Amino acid sequence: MAAKLKEYLKDPFLNDLYRQIRAAGTIRSISMDITHVCNIRCAGCYYFSDHMDEGHPTADEATFDAFLDAEARRGTNFITIVGGEPSLKPDRLRKITRRFKASVSTNGLKKIPMEGLEENLSIGVSVWGNAQTDRRLRGSGKVDIFPRALKNYRNDPRAFWYYTALPGYAEQIEDVVAQCVDNGNYVLFNFYGDVARFGDKMDHRRGFEKVRAAIERVIERFPERIFMTRYVSEVVSTGRLYDQEWSYDVCTSFSTDNPVNFERMKNGNPYSPHFRAYNADLTTTRRCCTGIDRDCASCFDVWQHFSWIILNMRKHLGSKAEFTRWLTTMYMFYLINRLVDFESGVRHIPEIHRRLKEAEPLTMAAVG
Ligand SMILES: C[S@@+](CC[C@H](N)C(=O)[O-])C[C@H]1O[C@@H](n2cnc3c(N)ncnc32)[C@H](O)[C@@H]1O
Repeated sequence: MAAKLKEYLKDPFLNDLYRQIRAAGTIRSISMDITHVCNIRCAGCYYFSDHMDEGHPTADEATFDAFLDAEARRGTNFITIVGGEPSLKPDRLRKITRRFKASVSTNGLKKIPMEGLEENLSIGVSVWGNAQTDRRLRGSGKVDIFPRALKNYRNDPRAFWYYTALPGYAEQIEDVVAQCVDNGNYVLFNFYGDVARFGDKMDHRRGFEKVRAAIERVIERFPERIFMTRYVSEVVSTGRLYDQEWSYDVCTSFSTDNPVNFERMKNGNPYSPHFRAYNADLTTTRRCCTGIDRDCASCFDVWQHFSWIILNMRKHLGSKAEFTRWLTTMYMFYLINRLVDFESGVRHIPEIHRRLKEAEPLTMAAVG
């Protein structure tokens, strides 16, 4: 393994990415619901579909402060903030980012202020298709969320769009991305899981082939602004990683303190030992960030798939092209979350896309 790594790292570009990641050190991450309250109801939101807001009311201030102290003592250095809607709790965001690096997911309706939140925060602003689709699916047909979010995060250096791609709305991707890029922002994709079983255009069982093709087109058109790589797009949307098929047994990010996962921890597949997904009470954890007992076949969560690739480095050592897929995945994760220097790091994005295109013919089907 060491010999192969040494050989691949003779390439100065790969060496530079690798060096930056090593310099950032080990990431010990958790996810936390900062509140169980949300100001909208997205159609088929996994959080409310799985009733994760019930029985775990938002922690009071003393519990919140004690929680941050305990996590600092435990060695946590990165927090993914979800909910509920995190923008409803800006003071808590300030408390978190004073001590930890963090990434927050917001629906974009209420701006996360800049004051006291300039540092240590990456903001993923959610959108689900074009303005009309988004209004219908996230705004209950009444609220124009996307235009408001565009205004809230225009040229905001902390922001990127976290675009949930729906299988039947692939043709909307390119125009929306053009607007996001024009707004001065970056774009990452996530794939819709039809947990509420709406079916038809929302049904993940239709597959994401058209979505993948649309992502490919926007990478070609805006190579400097797309955080999603061809490789990550393929792994998330097909659920294939070499000999593994996406399932609970191979997922690497689940609460390791929660007895529900103790059997999984014995099956020999890698996992993040530090990770926990805390409910809004900040006292209990749930099975994983996106589920209590959800069928993992409906999970296309991009963060969990990033982790799946990252923790399976060994599978990617067969050739320089495969190692490039692994390393660029790892690097993008660090870059999006500002764990490496962002300003200089984003300049590598076009070269990352170029190299992955070059390495294209080896698809998962071919190596699996
Ligand atoms: C549950 S939300 C919580 C944070 C915040 N309220 C927001 O809207 O970003 C976290 C992310 O999951 C996405 N999401 C919710 N339900 C989903 C589903 N069924 N499939 C894929 N993504 C989903 C949201 O769009 C958002 O980007």
